[in-house]
Amino acid sequence: MQRRHFLFGIVAAAAGGLLLRPADHGAPHGDYFRTLNDLLRTQGPGRPVLVIDLDRLERNCARLKASVVSGKQLRIVAKSLPSIPLIRHVQARTGSARVMSFHQPFLNALATELPQTDILLGKPMPVRAAETFYRYLDANGGFNPQAQLQWLVDTPERLAQYAQLARTLGTKMRINIELDVGLHRGGLATPEQLDPLLAGIAAASDHLEFAGFMGYDAHVGKIPSILESRETSHRKSNEVYRGFMARATAINPAFTAEKLTFNGAGSPTFRLHGSESPLNEVSVGSALVKPTDFDLGLLEDFEPAAFIATPVLKAMDGLQLPGVGALGDAWALWDRNRRRTFFIYGGKWMAKFASPAGLADNGLYGSSSNQAIVNASHAVNLAVDDCIFLRPTQSEAVLLQFGDIVAVRGAGSASPVIEHYWPILTPGHLQDPVHAAPLAAV
Ligand SMILES: Cc1ncc(COP(=O)(O)O)c(C=O)c1O
Repeated sequence: MQRRHFLFGIVAAAAGGLLLRPADHGAPHGDYFRTLNDLLRTQGPGRPVLVIDLDRLERNCARLKASVVSGKQLRIVAKSLPSIPLIRHVQARTGSARVMSFHQPFLNALATELPQTDILLGKPMPVRAAETFYRYLDANGGFNPQAQLQWLVDTPERLAQYAQLARTLGTKMRINIELDVGLHRGGLATPEQLDPLLAGIAAASDHLEFAGFMGYDAHVGKIPSILESRETSHRKSNEVYRGFMARATAINPAFTAEKLTFNGAGSPTFRLHGSESPLNEVSVGSALVKPTDFDLGLLEDFEPAAFIATPVLKAMDGLQLPGVGALGDAWALWDRNRRRTFFIYGGKWMAKFASPAGLADNGLYGSSSNQAIVNASHAVNLAVDDCIFLRPTQSEAVLLQFGDIVAVRGAGSASPVIEHYWPILTPGHLQDPVHAAPLAAV
């Protein structure tokens, strides 16, 4: 009797264990990625690349254009789309000539390559960076900083530094003031703090001009809803913004929305800014390529348009782990998603597996940025030289890691094509310090 109970227990445990075994999550590439895989196998460079789907990008541009309410302008966030031809493509599809820039070398590249663009800085730069910008600016290139560039300033000290630089250069700078509308990443916290800044600009009116405000509301929707709802955070940040606008017009009635830039928002929040919002322009970048961090309810209709594609270098059966012997076999027996082992070209990117389904990294083996391990089930029929696809979690850093962007049209169709190779922005060449020209008036 006792023995029968015991045997029954073992059988029940084994059956229960089998029921608890992970399901098979694997599958071959679907049509969309299969066509991309075929294209890159035959025409790709045989190394990891960043692919942009032009059809999806263009549909996202149309969605963006349609959601910016009338009376507001769109400013394209350059750091999230860090390639001049990519920005140019987005400018053409959205009709926006405005760009937000966050990095001095990119700022110079924008001024040189897109000289018709209106640029607002997205963060306050050390005055040395501003100086470097003027040093490297081609004075005859068609970009006129006095009309087309707004520097971002957050403190009276920085304002004084910029005023001094403008005097040295014999130029006039447009100054936009950073506001803290609730993000608490710096900027002016109270409207009273405007007084010394606007007074400083007025006192240096030969060299400085007030151009508007930038108040980014990235905290909206990120605070746990039990503490504050998205609607409440949005309403509060708009109220803060309006408080600064009221103070500015009280100081000078000419400081109106018709003359100034009242910038704010970003991909996660721009759709909250309807006609009641104090902003006269919204900034958006990431939503156009939709990395995984932007899988948000408000952006549900936007399509992922940027993928890392990387070749499989080695495809093996079984779970290949050094030094653990039968443990690897037992793990693969238990979890069928561990029954194939691939090594891919590169790895460790800020990205999540996108296709084929059921890919998993292996914490026991460890990660590598040279040849990363990937496990999957037998349903994943990848062979050597096939590509796996990942979605970046964010675009700004990841898009800069692969050299020229591969811009594809017709992904998912019978005959996709590589339409462009788009160079990325280069993070910064410096001139030979010995031969650099002394800083001269612009
Ligand atoms: C000042 C500012 N505005 C707007 C954005 C929004 O950019 P994106 O639309 O790419 O999220 C950012 C992102 O960091 C930002 O720092």
